[in-house]
Amino acid sequence: MSNQHQKAIFITGSSSGLGRATAKLFAAKGWKVIASMRDPNEEKELAKTAGVTLIALDITEAQKIERVVQEVVGSVGVDVVFNNAGYGLAGALEGLTDEQIHRMVNTNMLGAIRTTKAFIPYFRQKRAGLFINTTIGWRTTDGSSQLDLSRDEMGA
Ligand SMILES: NC(=O)c1ccc[n+]([C@@H]2O[C@H](COP(=O)([O-])OP(=O)(O)OC[C@H]3O[C@@H](n4cnc5c(N)ncnc54)[C@H](OP(=O)(O)O)[C@@H]3O)[C@@H](O)[C@H]2O)c1
Repeated sequence: MSNQHQKAIFITGSSSGLGRATAKLFAAKGWKVIASMRDPNEEKELAKTAGVTLIALDITEAQKIERVVQEVVGSVGVDVVFNNAGYGLAGALEGLTDEQIHRMVNTNMLGAIRTTKAFIPYFRQKRAGLFINTTIGWRTTDGSSQLDLSRDEMGA
């Protein structure tokens, strides 16, 4: 029997690291977890974890995000969205190509914005909902850069 008061979290980038750990933690605490990732076919452990539903999502694909969000809010419902998917680039900033920088912004910043934008009408309608964003930025050490653009802008 389903528990109508069971909370649900939607996570991007659940295939490793913080996303995967968050999926396991929330599932262990009895939440419904919608663990999105680029390739769910590769995921063995979360696929067998009670309370976890895997869903394919690349956050650079705008239309896919819209479809996935509609599907999720129309079925399980969502209380919390964790914008986690992303990556960092280490090295000298002047060594990065425009393509590398565009790809990072398209993933880390625009991907999180797209996902947030897709959920907002649903949260507004139910007058509840929480977004959690991993905060990322740009640090320099010893002449090299750690470029984790650019969800700092979303911290506001
Ligand atoms: N760990 C840190 O110290 C740290 C510090 C600052 C910020 N962060 C940020 O926190 C987040 C998680 O970090 P982490 O250490 O857990 O990194 P991680 O283990 O590399 O996990 C990143 C996740 O993002 C996914 N991802 C990358 N591009 C994606 C895309 N286009 N669409 C969907 N998923 C995508 C990866 O999926 P695939 O398996 O498909 O590649 C992976 O599941 C990242 O956004 C990272 O930039 C981490």
